[in-house]
Amino acid sequence: MRNVTSDNITDTFLGYFGDDTDPRLREIMVSLATHLHAFARETNLTHEEWQKGLDILRQAGSITTSERDEFVLLSDVMGLSSLVDMINSPEKGTSSSVLGPFHISNPPAMHMGADLKGDYEGELILVSGRVLDTDGNPIAGATLDIWQTAPNGLYSSQDPDQDMYSFHALFTTGDDGCYSFTSVKPVSYTVPTDGPVGEILNATGRHPWRPSHLHYIIKAEGFRSLVTEVFPDDDPYLDEDTVFGVRDDLVMKYESAPASSFPETGFDLCGKVGEDYLVVNFDLVLSRA
Ligand code: BEZ
Ligand code: FE
Repeated sequence: MRNVTSDNITDTFLGYFGDDTDPRLREIMVSLATHLHAFARETNLTHEEWQKGLDILRQAGSITTSERDEFVLLSDVMGLSSLVDMINSPEKGTSSSVLGPFHISNPPAMHMGADLKGDYEGELILVSGRVLDTDGNPIAGATLDIWQTAPNGLYSSQDPDQDMYSFHALFTTGDDGCYSFTSVKPVSYTVPTDGPVGEILNATGRHPWRPSHLHYIIKAEGFRSLVTEVFPDDDPYLDEDTVFGVRDDLVMKYESAPASSFPETGFDLCGKVGEDYLVVNFDLVLSRA
């Protein structure tokens, strides 16, 4: 096309594809260009605004390291990460939720009933549940990779005062599909705001808070892996998670229990609990692969 106009530029773009372009790539690029061009037309995008958008991407690139990915965070606060999660979730089973940037590879393997709280301040929680298939049968040999922040709201990779693997653990279920551990009640925390994402949140009057949660990745042979989170039902940010991760079936009650009711067997802390604690039961239902 020699006479490119604002009306025909999208079709012109589509006509430039080679015949042997992968069909899925073609589908994605056609849709992307169509929406991108429509966006510029609809908003009458100015040169300054176009430059500002490119600046944000440039800044995201320069702040991104192997430990911190500003592009993922941008996708998270735009709702894109959660939307992709939802589009690709199986119809049955526990809902998935955002992975976030703070997962660590090779977490330490722990036995059931292990304690993650150690000497940290905060409310003791006893977490237990089962890994089940969609017919309610227990799944043996499932791995649960679990992580959370310390009570200061920081993940170990953000906090030089924590051991690299503090509040990270890997459990493997036995024949009963059960898992259990003790830890500290998670706290609400803010996503990093010192980069361009913080600037966008600030400019649009948005807060950077996430409701408190425990992260889970569950894997089992023959089943689809599940990346999810569990949220206490009393968190003030449940209805305004800045990364859109909350789903009804992931919100659980943390029931208060007296110290005297702490189990006598099966936990590292048996015989050592002198204060009331909170109990949360969270079953995880996996769909077949
Ligand atoms: C997280 O839950 O760890 C998280 C998710 C998205 C952005 C930042 C943090
Ligand atoms: Fe998190």
